[in-house]
Amino acid sequence: MKKIISVGAGDYIGPEVMKEAKKVLESVASKFGHKFEFRDVFVGGASIDEFGVPLHKSQLDIIKSSDALLFGSIGGPKWDSVAPEIRPEKGILELRKSLETFANLRPVKVFSELIDASPIKREIINGVDLVVVRELTGGIYFGERKTDFDESGKEYATDTLKYDEDEIRRILKVAFELAQKRNKKLCSVDKENVLDSSKLWRKIALEVSKEFGDVEFSNMYVDNAAMQLILNPAQFDVIVTGNMFGDILSDAASVLGGSLGMLASASLSEKGKVAMYEPSGGSAPDIAGKGIANPIAQILSASMMLSISFNLQEEAQAIEKSIEKVLKTHRTADIFTSGTQKVTTEQMGDLIAKNI
Ligand code: IPM
Ligand code: MG
Repeated sequence: MKKIISVGAGDYIGPEVMKEAKKVLESVASKFGHKFEFRDVFVGGASIDEFGVPLHKSQLDIIKSSDALLFGSIGGPKWDSVAPEIRPEKGILELRKSLETFANLRPVKVFSELIDASPIKREIINGVDLVVVRELTGGIYFGERKTDFDESGKEYATDTLKYDEDEIRRILKVAFELAQKRNKKLCSVDKENVLDSSKLWRKIALEVSKEFGDVEFSNMYVDNAAMQLILNPAQFDVIVTGNMFGDILSDAASVLGGSLGMLASASLSEKGKVAMYEPSGGSAPDIAGKGIANPIAQILSASMMLSISFNLQEEAQAIEKSIEKVLKTHRTADIFTSGTQKVTTEQMGDLIAKNI
């Protein structure tokens, strides 16, 4: 199989961990007889330096003409003082909107090797295997916003949280279909006791649930969901929620897996369109350049790309198996426990590539 992959490594640890993901993909290509052609694109701060904007049309064109986008992470102190309209984060939001990647899948799987690396007790995280499905192109992130002064001269700011029924229906469908392929449980998270947008969300969710009789369906308020994720995370299979709730809950859930450096994600559009794969964590400026970043989230993102965009299941599994094997004996600093050997970003990439 031949595939063209755009690679937007981004900023700070972005390029460091991306190098290892490419290495692992090359290893998969040679083992299974595929050809992956990488096309590097500038995104985020790297793009501000090159083009003066966080996402340039020329790069978007390259991305849109490829088979998938493997993304790193963007932003950091170097661009903290740029004008708000061109902040690196704007680039990622624009990218999501342009590619219409409305469905963001953030799986949290606790590798049994890493149970002791998690700050949460073993008996609580044992067996956790869940996915947060976050709506990614609507809600408060993309509603009207304004900062102004009222008649008395007091400054105020507003952000608007709007969802229409179609936006809710399509993300619910993605979540139900995913639940069907997994443990057939879906929990829809909202704030229906307060927000109109959540009332509509719950109504549509209930309606869509009727089409998926084989999936056990429930609703939960977001505040309770935050608590349940820490108290009893193993109760969840698939969680579906709006853009901002999903942003918050997925960071909370990430801790269960031992480290944010372990969490991959996929951002999907309609079937057949370019999807984007990226680690859930950020560009970690504080540890950049030290060779200590954990490349596994980036490598698992590549594995999700193989599985979802290219339907290469055996290859994706080969990556996961290799990671599991390597983790038994070797760890980057963020997941290090005594009895294992501490390795650098590059050594971790080498080991995973070698064990494919
Ligand atoms: C994420 C990040 C982004 C978001 C930021 C960088 C805009 O936190 O992907 O979760 O809030 O969506
Ligand atoms: Mg976030």
